[in-house]
Amino acid sequence: MNYFKRIKSTSIAILLLGLGLMTSEVSAEEHPGKVLFDDNNCMQCHAGLGFKISPNPKMTVTDKASLAKTVTLCSNNLHLGLFDDEIGHIADYLNQKYYKFDH
Ligand code: HEC
Repeated sequence: MNYFKRIKSTSIAILLLGLGLMTSEVSAEEHPGKVLFDDNNCMQCHAGLGFKISPNPKMTVTDKASLAKTVTLCSNNLHLGLFDDEIGHIADYLNQKYYKFDH
């Protein structure tokens, strides 16, 4: 009887440990836009270029909408084949980190 009790409490401890690991993973989760940004090597150019750099009026970023547009242009230019929602995530990440538009 005691033996079974011990197995039970051990498995509960393991279960709790697993849950703990899961929640720590969730809280450390990165912005989906950062993951896409890193995976698509955007920094290969933008580490040196930075952002808010373009002298080209077509690429001038003044709000969230034009930010998403320029991310699309860069993505198309590189033939990355990103989906619209992925563009949205990247634009949101860049806005949080660099542009800070509230409109
Ligand atoms: C091959 C180099 C290169 C890569 C890789 C690249 N970019 Fe760009 N990006 C540029 C250049 C050059 C410009 C400025 C273009 C211009 O002036 O017409 C630019 C402009 C931009 C702008 C507008 C910049 C501004 O003035 O505020 C954004 C936003 C942007 N890129 C996002 C991205 C994202 C997101 C990725 C990854 C998916 C990416 N870029 C990958 C070269 C690159």
